[in-house]
Amino acid sequence: MKKQILLIIPILLLAILLYSFKKHSVDNKKVHSVTDLDKKIEQKVDSVLALMTIKEKIGQMVQYSGRNIKTGPDSNTNEKEKIEKIKNGMVGSMLSVVSVKNTREFQHLVMDNSRLKIPLLFGYDVIHGYKTIFPIPLGESASWDLELIKKSASIAAKETSASGVHWTFAPMIDVSRDARWGRIMEGAGEDPYLVSQIGVARVQGFQGNDLSLDNTIAACAKHFAGYGLAEGGRDYNSVNIGEYELNNDVLPPFKAVANAGVATFMNAFNTLDGIPATGHKGIQRDLLKDKWNWTGFIVSDWGSIGELVPHGFAKDKYQASEIAIKAGSDMDMESYAYEDNLEQLVNDGKIDIALIDDAVKRILKLKFKLGLFDDPYKYCNEKREKREVYSVENQNFAREVAKKSIVLLKNKNQLLPLKKHINSIAIIGPLANDKNAPIGNWRAQGVANSAVSLLEGIKSTASPNTKIVYEKGCDLIPNNYKENKITTSKQATTDDANLQRAINAAKNAEVVLLAIGENAFQTGEAKSQAEIGFTKAQLELLKAIYKVNNNIIIILMNGRPMDITWASQNVPTILECWHLGSQAGNAIADVVFGDYNPSGKLPVSFPYNSNQEPFYYNHQNTGRPNNSHSRFYSGYTDKPNEALYPFGYGLSYTTFEYKNLRLDKTDIKKDDSIKLSIDVSNTGNMDGEEVVQLYIHDLVGSLTRPVKELKGFEKIMLKAGQTKTINFNIDDKLLQFYTVNKKWEVEPGDFEVYVGGNSSTTLKTAFTITN
Ligand code: NOJ
Repeated sequence: MKKQILLIIPILLLAILLYSFKKHSVDNKKVHSVTDLDKKIEQKVDSVLALMTIKEKIGQMVQYSGRNIKTGPDSNTNEKEKIEKIKNGMVGSMLSVVSVKNTREFQHLVMDNSRLKIPLLFGYDVIHGYKTIFPIPLGESASWDLELIKKSASIAAKETSASGVHWTFAPMIDVSRDARWGRIMEGAGEDPYLVSQIGVARVQGFQGNDLSLDNTIAACAKHFAGYGLAEGGRDYNSVNIGEYELNNDVLPPFKAVANAGVATFMNAFNTLDGIPATGHKGIQRDLLKDKWNWTGFIVSDWGSIGELVPHGFAKDKYQASEIAIKAGSDMDMESYAYEDNLEQLVNDGKIDIALIDDAVKRILKLKFKLGLFDDPYKYCNEKREKREVYSVENQNFAREVAKKSIVLLKNKNQLLPLKKHINSIAIIGPLANDKNAPIGNWRAQGVANSAVSLLEGIKSTASPNTKIVYEKGCDLIPNNYKENKITTSKQATTDDANLQRAINAAKNAEVVLLAIGENAFQTGEAKSQAEIGFTKAQLELLKAIYKVNNNIIIILMNGRPMDITWASQNVPTILECWHLGSQAGNAIADVVFGDYNPSGKLPVSFPYNSNQEPFYYNHQNTGRPNNSHSRFYSGYTDKPNEALYPFGYGLSYTTFEYKNLRLDKTDIKKDDSIKLSIDVSNTGNMDGEEVVQLYIHDLVGSLTRPVKELKGFEKIMLKAGQTKTINFNIDDKLLQFYTVNKKWEVEPGDFEVYVGGNSSTTLKTAFTITN
């Protein structure tokens, strides 16, 4: 009897507490500021914490994966045991449990059985849409349209929350400069400024202004930090960058989203200058939590606490847990390390319980903010799920985003746009009628083979009188292709009959749309490639078609910059179409027939060749920059140093002219600002959008500075013949960098400022900063 009373007391206390919180949270919406609400939440968190045993606390720091979706190596766990632990409140979060039915079932396990009934938090990789699939993040970033990107994240959040899930492991804001790295598809490219802006837009889209609403979800900034610069572009590889690169290039996007209130961070698999990121106290606890004063929680990456052992940084999971919690990792995703070791570590006097308390508080705080203590089933509404997931409205918006993500790389003799009444089109290539590749990797609940293919899109947009012939030409990958053996894709061959039919189709058509590139799974996690060119079969197909018909428009579908040098030197027209998502074919048709004038710009440089990687525009000058008069300069003897297509590049069906670049002052003090103005004109016959880009070059620094750095951009619409004046404000925020003094500051000196439609612009002026 005594035992029963003892058990009932904490439950009663929690019930009273939650009731009072519920009352407060309603009142708070009306009368209190956010800070007041935060304080109230903290009080509630403290009260819950006071009721918890050490085992229950550690339970909150444990995250298990659901049974059906695996996004990491198997952990050989006993499913029955896992369910028992969930029932006992020994698990705080689940990943990859989706749908109202499944999340409700898991939530019931906790709510019906555990002592304290602390709701589970459900997380999932919603990377470019939940079921309505938007372009892969790299592709969507090519829109340079922050409102569009924000809205696509908010639609993903609506579909995700309607399916019972509270939290996405996105955005990935790793600056990535190596096209060989498979995960380049998941980020916003090579430039810290652009990645920051897009990262913030995505966070705002997912989280909205209020996490307690039914249609917003928590975001997760990942991977903290340096993961995008894995050596040789090989996934999970070491990152040996110095303090300078870390601070100036890798960390700024993380700082930007921390300031924007991102709810969670995920740490990373890689080492950073010898220290595995997951066990890196310097960046997690000291910098992010203490110096930046960020109050969310850090989830480990899949098994990354356990991986401190193979890294050779801990001798067993006991030591790995000690290192990870001290470093600031709050939640253990699938390492099964915290659950077995944290209590012992406290008992052995190795860690202070305060570390556990801090982690648990951060986790509970998010659960309160999401409103899960008010209603653990608040996202569980089948009717809403049915109505909102994959709705027609969302599909329409996916088409909008997809068309704005397309980049026109080349358009000799204005082969595009095609006239709708064109007589004949041959649609050729292994990706021409592929309904799966455009869904891309990290497709969440995107259904296999559900995209509108190029063939379908063109057929439904072209005139009924246009003769459309389709031929595959060759396979993209051989039939016996195994997911893990990408290299076999290089062996895909053309078979003669297939090839011959494609050649005949091309011979008899006015133009050829040739869809080549990569399938959905040639990029993504653990999909690094040493070579980034076309498969042998595709190159053979391209050359064979070119022999019989020069009017080729390449529809490039891919998740990374590719080596397209031969194509670029020979074929008149190339459209970069990434993996564009559910509405891919329709969006491409919009651009092909000129219903939409392409406006995308590359968020990554395209090199001539794999061997130039890592490749990025914002590099340093070296002591021997490229100089055609000298033999002794930093470069290759067989390849140029420049990009085939530079960062920021993309054409339109119209043309733009930049004139009258002017500054309101050319001499300023450190904390003063300059107004830059430029007149941009649409000099063609068609209305169009242009991304006006601002780059700065700090000529001399206490540390050598990049040759150019993006510091601003504006996407504008100009009617044919119209001119607009665009202004940028250049102030200390744009000019400072992490200097030799180990702080962010502006150094006096001379600066060049460039404006134009891509990073290779030469239109420039200059100013000076004095002390
Ligand atoms: C490993 C990946 O690195 C990470 O980005 C992802 O969120 C987790 N797996 C969970 O799927």
